[in-house]
Amino acid sequence: MPTWQPSERPTALSNDPAAAIILIGFMGSGKTAVGRELARRLEQPFYDLDDLIEREAALAITAIFRSLGETYFRTLELFLLRRLLTDVTVAGTAAPVIATGGGIVTTPAARDLLRRVAGTVIHLRVDATTAARRVAADGATRPLLNGRHDIPLPEENRLRKIQGLLHSRRPCYEACSRLVADTDGLSVIEVVDRLITALGNRSATASRPDSNT
Ligand code: S3P
Repeated sequence: MPTWQPSERPTALSNDPAAAIILIGFMGSGKTAVGRELARRLEQPFYDLDDLIEREAALAITAIFRSLGETYFRTLELFLLRRLLTDVTVAGTAAPVIATGGGIVTTPAARDLLRRVAGTVIHLRVDATTAARRVAADGATRPLLNGRHDIPLPEENRLRKIQGLLHSRRPCYEACSRLVADTDGLSVIEVVDRLITALGNRSATASRPDSNT
């Protein structure tokens, strides 16, 4: 059964109505699809960091990795997350939903930012097999899962690569998130339903006058 788990990390949850909802998680965890649907249901704007990166660089992500390198991509990713968080705070948008790229947590300064941000950082959890199945449907759009000439790795190599990356990143996702949602075996709508319930419970607890949370 899928479960909802509060993060192990004790945090003071923000009651700030201007706080963003930020989705993190591995490739194929559904951040973009879930984020878009969550934003629609909450009637809030949706931002996809990968889209913003492609627009800013005027290049597809695979081309950024190929021509400018991963370090350039990570720098731009962090810069745009910072700028987005500043912009939405300044604009006073109630609770924008932001989908990040799966590797954002590999940048120490991004982890720092996610741990300090006033918004709610949600880890969409996915296991390696589900991630492999979901990303296979997206073709060659993820450079870290491609071989030479932007050709997707063969299935078995891709699964091994995903297992390795997931193993090294899992602690980072856990350290940066305040809510965890399992997504294996669930549709986008089911995940969003659970998120809305969890977010509602959380704000109900936060606004209860005798609450110590
Ligand atoms: C990456 C994940 C991708 C994208 C880039 C790098 C990663 O985003 O940012 O290909 O390092 O895990 P998704 O998680 O949306 O696929």
